[in-house]
Amino acid sequence: MFIRHETIEKNVILMLVLTLITVSIGGLVQIIPLFTVETTIERIDGMRPYTPLELMGRNIYIREGCYLCHSQQIRPFKDEVERYGHYSLAAESMYDKPFQWGSKRTGPDLARVGGRYSNDWHVAHLASPRAVVPESVMPAYPFLANRPLDYSDIAQHLRTLRTVGTPYTDEMIANARADLEAQVDPDRDPTAMQKRYPRAPVAKFNGETTTITEMDALVAYLQMLGTLVQFGDIPPDRLKQ
Ligand code: HEC
Repeated sequence: MFIRHETIEKNVILMLVLTLITVSIGGLVQIIPLFTVETTIERIDGMRPYTPLELMGRNIYIREGCYLCHSQQIRPFKDEVERYGHYSLAAESMYDKPFQWGSKRTGPDLARVGGRYSNDWHVAHLASPRAVVPESVMPAYPFLANRPLDYSDIAQHLRTLRTVGTPYTDEMIANARADLEAQVDPDRDPTAMQKRYPRAPVAKFNGETTTITEMDALVAYLQMLGTLVQFGDIPPDRLKQ
């Protein structure tokens, strides 16, 4: 055997061919199984697609470039986990198209900002960050509180996301407008909307006006970030990814 090995080592071409064969086998063993699985993301209970209102808020978040200063991905480092909470799981951004992980943190990570402040705090902070955090360098977005939310095309947004894999049902698309209005009107019966979108909070997020504003949508979005997966319910071994 060792004599043959010497032949291989002394013949560059033979060595190259045999190396290529070995590496190819290794590669195929790793790659081929991936073709047979539907997704490499481990499913986690609690994840649901965005409600129509949250989706509009997310669109405003992208339009205003919030991602230029805020990341939405908590890395598995002690300091980050202590500051922001459980590190982000792949499944938590499975309905983010495009994802908002970000690469710059001028402001804090927002992956788990949901529920950390009141709706009124967010409205006041977005309208004038320095009114609540004196040393803040965040720009002010007061116009969001006055601009009526244009959601005439909300059903199309859901339909488009469905073509790229977000599981919006026909029922969700047909009720998109009604669901959006139900989430922002505490006087309406939210049962049907919450059946489609479990645990979606209902509130007039922007309490300063009765019209549905862009501020309502953006705050609804911020308030749900990181709140869908209930970490207490999941056995620790299912969280290793
Ligand atoms: C120029 C950079 C910059 C931009 C753009 C920016 N922010 Fe901020 N943001 C900050 C900084 C800095 C802070 C920390 C100080 C403060 O709380 O105001 C912050 C704080 C926040 C907080 C509080 C986070 C926490 O955990 O305390 C939220 C929520 C927030 N920003 C949302 C937004 C949204 C929504 C947008 C887009 C409409 C946005 N930011 C755009 C810099 C920015």
